[in-house]
Amino acid sequence: MSEPRKILVTSALPYANGSIHLGHMLEYIQTDMWVRFQKHRGNQCIYVCADDAHGSAIMLRAEKEGITPEQLIANVQAEHSADFADFLVDFDNFHSTHAEENRELSSHIYLKLRDAGHIATRSITQYFDPEKKMFLADRFIKGTCPKCGTEDQYGDNCEKCGATYAPTDLKDPKSAISGATPVLKDSQHFFFKLPDFQQMLQTWTRSGTLQDAVANKIAEWLDAGLQQWDISRDAPYFGFEIPDEPGKYFYVWLDAPIGYMASFKNLCDRTPELDFDAFWGKDSTAELYHFIGKDIVNFHALFWPAMLEGAGYRKPTGINVHGYLTVNGQKMSKSRGTFIKARTYLDHLSPEYLRYYYAAKLSRGVDDLDLNLEDFVQKVNSDLVGKVVNIASRCAGFIHKGNAGLMVDTNAAPELTEAFLAAAPGIADAYEARDFARAMREIMALADRANAWIADKAPWSLNKQEGKQDEVQAICATGVNLFRQLVIFLKPVLPLLAADAEAFLNVAPLTWNDHQIWLANHQLNEFKPLMTRIDPVKVQAMTDASKEDLTASQTDTGQAQPAGNGELAKDPLSPEIDFDTFAAVDLRVALIVKAEHVEGADKLLRLTLDIGDEQRNVFSGIKSAYPDPSKLDGRLTMMIANLKPRKMKFGISEGMVMAAGPGGEEIYLLSPDSGAKPGQRIK
Ligand code: MSP
Ligand code: ZN
Repeated sequence: MSEPRKILVTSALPYANGSIHLGHMLEYIQTDMWVRFQKHRGNQCIYVCADDAHGSAIMLRAEKEGITPEQLIANVQAEHSADFADFLVDFDNFHSTHAEENRELSSHIYLKLRDAGHIATRSITQYFDPEKKMFLADRFIKGTCPKCGTEDQYGDNCEKCGATYAPTDLKDPKSAISGATPVLKDSQHFFFKLPDFQQMLQTWTRSGTLQDAVANKIAEWLDAGLQQWDISRDAPYFGFEIPDEPGKYFYVWLDAPIGYMASFKNLCDRTPELDFDAFWGKDSTAELYHFIGKDIVNFHALFWPAMLEGAGYRKPTGINVHGYLTVNGQKMSKSRGTFIKARTYLDHLSPEYLRYYYAAKLSRGVDDLDLNLEDFVQKVNSDLVGKVVNIASRCAGFIHKGNAGLMVDTNAAPELTEAFLAAAPGIADAYEARDFARAMREIMALADRANAWIADKAPWSLNKQEGKQDEVQAICATGVNLFRQLVIFLKPVLPLLAADAEAFLNVAPLTWNDHQIWLANHQLNEFKPLMTRIDPVKVQAMTDASKEDLTASQTDTGQAQPAGNGELAKDPLSPEIDFDTFAAVDLRVALIVKAEHVEGADKLLRLTLDIGDEQRNVFSGIKSAYPDPSKLDGRLTMMIANLKPRKMKFGISEGMVMAAGPGGEEIYLLSPDSGAKPGQRIK
């Protein structure tokens, strides 16, 4: 046998300012399946990732939530880690870019580049927010389109007429953060001299490192000529300060890919047999692959190899680019309930259904992949339950009843067994090439043949005939062996199914080469159903809950804002209002007559409110803080009584109650002092 390969694999580092959704999962599941395949084959394969924790978005969100960026990224890292674990994505390490290893490596790489003459400095002029005392990235500036006059356009392009322009061309520009009028200000910036690496990139991008479609796109950029890349940001910024340059920070995209190295370094420091340089050193013979989405190709196929080369490290063996996820043929949409968070999916469905569906649809191209929810139910039920698991459930009972669970040693289908063995190298090649769809097609074709063979032999009929018991046992032992082969082939995609099958088969964890072994005179354990069909009702519940995620989060902001706190002025969603606007809000004392759960809603409570002359029905996203709603009965609170009624999935909501807090268990319903009467206006 050949030497095991040494392989280091990464997925893109998810931003630490939002939840993981099924689009992200396309990447992490795909990478995980490839890594599991390599491990299954006996290669040394290490899979690292991290949260991408830096940047102004994270800084501003933490400020808005009234916590430090460190607290925010710690919360998000816990959430992300749980989502990945529950989708069976098995990282060897999941770190953070806001970590000491990354600070050291980023400084080291920067200094190498600087000392080799690859860093330039010059002054640039940008909008500056005089209130927040910070430079504004394009997306934090809004104003009137210089072309068509539409108001409230962000950054450098108009949503209405499609014009593109410099943010300085916007008429009546405002800071989206404070609302202040920005001023132009100069500042010294640091640039990475990417053109120094034009030659190297021309060769490297054509040396089999990229899919053809990606290499062609990069060739267009290379032909157009490379620009220097701005790698610095001014304080205040959440990131690493640039060595010797107080007040200047590395742009988040400078230290993000270095986060791959840092996560691996962190793992090496706790794993004596792992050597950092053996994977990252100039002379490394290990393979290095980055799995990424098509939106971040320039960072990985241009900037990153150039940084590595310039700082004296090895370059990636391959950048594996995938397309975007669509759901039911369209971009994921919050209002259609197809913007599905990883956690919302997991609340309703098993992770292996999605892993299999993605595998069945993923080939090595960069095309978008559609999750069609009807097809998803149909395909999983027909392939996994109807074909694969069915083989075991058809055969196990006869072996248990007829032979006390002992598999006889007769192979009743030598030709079929040969066909399974002969198919294995092709399936392995398909996995290796990341053509998971082809691997799944070939495996399902084998499952079809095994089912057809069993149907033809019909052990259930033979079993009723006298003197056919040996034949029944031979057929069923053969069937279980074929099932076992299929499980071996599917294990990188379905690790839980494989573990349950191993328990039933009474065998040690299966590896790829075990497909050459045949179980004979082997004792089985009890058969438990290995997988149940997807109930379409659960898929519907998942999309309903995704719509509810949206209404609940809108309700949350709606509640936090009238409650008022010092952060409000900083919230781009809350511009200053004049007194008349405030006076137009009909704020009332309300008596909670009844608070109750809403059937099928995870986050909402239904409140019946008495506001003196009438009763109102209000849905409020406060269930997480008040799991026992009856405790609210009879309590006074405050409501906005003249809010336009809103049609929600569960009925019409006629107003909004007021609460403070970040959400979850920390939602605090506001109450007036005792003595206030329902219906009294708040002035
Ligand atoms: N933080 C950067 C990556 C830094 S890597 C040094 C980033 N984060 S992200 O959270 O926006 O995306 C993480 C990965 O998920 C990216 O590879 C991105 O392409 C992928 N996807 C995000 N949305 C996706 C879909 N809707 N569909 C498929 N992949 C998607 O980019
Ligand atoms: Zn316009």
